[in-house]
Amino acid sequence: MRSAEPAFTAAWEALARHRQELAGTHLRDLFASDPARARRYTLELDGLALDYSRNPVTDRTLSLLLALAEAAGVADWTERMFRGERINATENRAVLHTALRAPRDRPLLLGGIDVMAEVHATLDRFLAFAEQVRGGTWTGATGRRIARVVNIGIGGSDLGPAMACDALSPYRHKGIDFAFVANVDGTAITRALAESDPESTLFIIASKTFTTQETMTNAATARAWLVERLGEAAIPHHFVAVSTNRVEVERFGIDPANMFGFWDWVGGRYSLWSAIGLPIAIAIGAERFREFLAGAAAMDRHFREAPPETNIPVLLALLGVWQINFLGRHTQAILPYDQSLARFPAYLQQLEMESNGKRVSRRGEIVPHATGAVVWGEPGTNGQHAFYQLLHQGTTIVPADFLAPARAQHGLDHHHRILLANLLAQAQALMQGRTEEEARAELVAQGLAGEALEKLLPHKVFPGDRPSNTILFETLDPRRLGMLIALYEHKVFVQGIVWNIHSFDQWGVELGKQLAGGLLPALEGRPPAVQPDAASREQIERLRRWRGQGAV
Ligand code: F6P
Repeated sequence: MRSAEPAFTAAWEALARHRQELAGTHLRDLFASDPARARRYTLELDGLALDYSRNPVTDRTLSLLLALAEAAGVADWTERMFRGERINATENRAVLHTALRAPRDRPLLLGGIDVMAEVHATLDRFLAFAEQVRGGTWTGATGRRIARVVNIGIGGSDLGPAMACDALSPYRHKGIDFAFVANVDGTAITRALAESDPESTLFIIASKTFTTQETMTNAATARAWLVERLGEAAIPHHFVAVSTNRVEVERFGIDPANMFGFWDWVGGRYSLWSAIGLPIAIAIGAERFREFLAGAAAMDRHFREAPPETNIPVLLALLGVWQINFLGRHTQAILPYDQSLARFPAYLQQLEMESNGKRVSRRGEIVPHATGAVVWGEPGTNGQHAFYQLLHQGTTIVPADFLAPARAQHGLDHHHRILLANLLAQAQALMQGRTEEEARAELVAQGLAGEALEKLLPHKVFPGDRPSNTILFETLDPRRLGMLIALYEHKVFVQGIVWNIHSFDQWGVELGKQLAGGLLPALEGRPPAVQPDAASREQIERLRRWRGQGAV
């Protein structure tokens, strides 16, 4: 907790005391004592509903958590973000991904420039380009239509577009397929190129900085591949860039006319709403991309205007704080019951862990409490046959977010009913568990008795009392996907404010990048620019031996 702010400290301490009061109360008890609990603890916005009733909270817990948010200044910080203040202080930048989906009629001045005019001019431009590709008026060098888009980017320049293109696959242009190359492991680009026809492939080089080692290495390989097949003159037909760095884009050999820009106030992990979303726009078209933005804008409005007690992102965030800081649960499972959201957990991993994986406060002091949880997950039902055993009967309690659309888009509704029944069953089983009495009755009914029954009994007991949120949406359309992503973005923001950390920088990825650059020469037979530690030295020697290279 923060020593210098008494209101915050008092709210934190009240929660710590309250936690003791609630100790020993099973989720079953909370449901038993309030038949309306599930209804009371559900919030809905435009066909998206959060049911948080399976959390170990009471009305008192919620009011204490809301008091914590107030003491932390969440409402004030929210306004500062939306207004474009430089709240990303360590990089001296505004945080304005919300401007990327705001309507064009409300000007927003940043350093004397109307951000909204620039945003919409760029949006119009990249959506027009997307339509040209979709309609076949943008062609490859030999006049062929584009039938494949290869996005080369990593982190925020990959995960968002890759996740959304998959999530919105029912809306995708049928004549264009998509590949996403992120890893510098040559396997990724080799596979993507092997499946590409140079004459009908468009490469999007997506990098905010245009200096990221992985992206530039993959981009150079793709460029050489294309030049070898179609010649240098083909480049303008097959390569476009999305970046904030015009100089580097030109240096790479892409004409700025084929570049779509964005701004330093768009964080990488918040950038799919900008031109970084170009693959999404090519996949689903301009109109639906605008619906995607409108969904996020609706969540923005709700987040900015709804009172804290009915504010979906605020509550989702505070429930996370309760789990992490007061119940000691430092992990968070994301369990989409929708195969097309397979990349959603990976997307949230970057969003949450790169944003809130911080150990010093905004003032640079070590924070005296835990911050971001370890986020991970897999779609249901696959995960049920892999790691759910631990969720049900393991010694670690894992708060889970279950997500599902009410209606599927594949036409196999009986599959979808089975899928939904599984989601309902898992969340219920985690909450209720199975008592010894119930397990015994079941074994007796199966004809077991005596020693055989007693031996098996402990293994058949489920403690229950395992928390989850359930987020249901009508269907996974562009609008609902936009809402869902924005919901988690604002959740992350609120948690960062409560934890008093900077959620919009990512210095923690720098050290590894520097060392990788410094150690690379050792694998190329040159003296490394940084001193390898003893383990790296041993491994470099072994690697060189096994790679048939001599000693450094
Ligand atoms: O991994 C760090 C990071 O800076 C991410 O925040 C970012 O999304 C990713 O690298 C890619 O950066 P860029 O878009 O500049 O290539």
